Amino acid sequence: MKIGVVGLGFVGLVTAAVLSSDGFEVIGIDVDPEKIRKLKEGKVPIYEPELEKYIRRGNPEFSLDYTLLRSADLTFVSVPTPTVDRNIDLSFIFDAVGKISGITGSDIVIKSTVVPGTAKKIMDRIPNNVISNPEFLREGAAIHDTLHPDRVIIGGNNAELVERVWSFTGAPAIKTTNENAELIKYASNAFLATKISFINEIANLCEQIPETDVDTVATGMGLDRRIGSTFLKAGIGYGGSCFPKDTQALMSFADSFGQEMKIVRSATEVNESRIQRFLDRMGAFFENLSDLKVLQLGLSFKDNTNDSRESPALNLYYKLKDRVKQLTVYDPVSKVEGVDYCMDLEVGLKDKDAIVIATEWPEFKILEKMDVKIPIFDGRRILDPAKFKKYIGVGLYEQG
Ligand code: UGA
Repeated sequence: MKIGVVGLGFVGLVTAAVLSSDGFEVIGIDVDPEKIRKLKEGKVPIYEPELEKYIRRGNPEFSLDYTLLRSADLTFVSVPTPTVDRNIDLSFIFDAVGKISGITGSDIVIKSTVVPGTAKKIMDRIPNNVISNPEFLREGAAIHDTLHPDRVIIGGNNAELVERVWSFTGAPAIKTTNENAELIKYASNAFLATKISFINEIANLCEQIPETDVDTVATGMGLDRRIGSTFLKAGIGYGGSCFPKDTQALMSFADSFGQEMKIVRSATEVNESRIQRFLDRMGAFFENLSDLKVLQLGLSFKDNTNDSRESPALNLYYKLKDRVKQLTVYDPVSKVEGVDYCMDLEVGLKDKDAIVIATEWPEFKILEKMDVKIPIFDGRRILDPAKFKKYIGVGLYEQG
C-alpha cells in the first residue's frame, strides 16, 4: 500500500516514520521548503526521541510536490489547526484537502484535531471519501505511542483500508461516525486537562494542611482503577500545543450550540492560576525576591521535548525575571531567544540563592546527589524532599 502524509509536524513526521518502517511505501509532503530540504539531507527538524532512527529505517520520500500523491492509496492529513480568536482555524485543512483532491480521488484521512462536523464540511467541498482518525500521541513519547496506542479511532464510511494500516499495532479499533471520532479527540484531551487541574486544586489544599502530600494522595487515588494513576501529577500546570488550544476550541465550539462547558472552563481557569500561586509561595518564603539570584531548571512544556509552546516553564521565566535580581535557565534541549541560559547545571548553580524546577526532566534528579544548601522550589515534584535542607514543593505543606 502506498501512503501519503500531508503536513510534516510532530504527528505527520511520526506517522510517516512509523508507517514507512513498518513496510509501507510513504511519501511525505509539506509546504515548507526548508523543512523538506533538511529531511532530504537526513536531518530531523524537531527534537523527538527515536524519530531519527525510525525515519532512517523506513526511509520515506519527502517532497514539496503534491502531484506525487497521485499513486497513493490513502493520504493522511496532519496540518495544524490553530486556535485563532478562541476558535479553531481550519484554513490549513481546507487548503490541503483541496490540493489533494485535485490530484487523487483516493480516500483522505484526517489526523489533525478538528471540531465535529469538519469531515462532513470537507466532503461537501470535495468528491473524496473522508475518514477521521484522530491522533493520541504525546510529544516526547511519540514513537512509542504510535506503535502502541491504547486504541485506534476510525470515523466514517468504508474505512477498512485505514483499519488495515493500523492493524500492526494490535490496538482495539473503534469504528464509528466521523463526528464521534472528532469529538472523542477533544473529549479525551479536555478530560486529561481536567484531571491535571483537579489534582492541582487538591495540591493547593495540601499546601494548607500539615502532614499532607499531594503525591501520596494521588497515589492513593490512582490505585482505584476507576480513577487511574496517570495524569495526576501536580505541578505548575499543563502547557504545550494541544491542551490549552483544544480546551479553548472545545469551549467555543460548545458555545456555538449555547452549551457551556463548565468543567472544562474551570480546568482552564485553575491552570491559568498555577504560575501566580507558585510565585506567591516564593514571595511568602523570601522577604525580598528582588535580591535573589535564581537558577530555573527547565523551559520546555514537559520533559523529552524542546517544545516551549504554551510552556508553563517559559511563562514562569517571564514572570519571575521581573521580580528577581538575576534569573538563569538550564534546560537540556529547549532554547528560546532572549532567555538567559547556562549550558551546565552545576556551573549554573554557582552563587545562586534559590533553585526553581519548572520542567519534569528526570536528569534534574542529580540534585539529590549534590550537597544543595539553598532552597529548592519544586514546581514538578520530581525530587525527594527528604534529601534537601529547604524544600518547597507543589502540594506539600511547608513547615514555617
Ligand atoms: C497531549 C495528550 O496527552 C496526547 O494524547 C494528545 O495526542 C496530544 O496532547 C495532542 O493532542 O496532540 P502532549 O501535549 O504531547 O500530549 O503532552 P502531555 O504528556 O499530555 O502533557 C501535557 C502537559 O500536561 C505538560 O505540560 C505536562 O507537564 C502536563 N502534565 C501532564 C501535568 O502537569 N501532570 C500530569 O500528570 C501529566
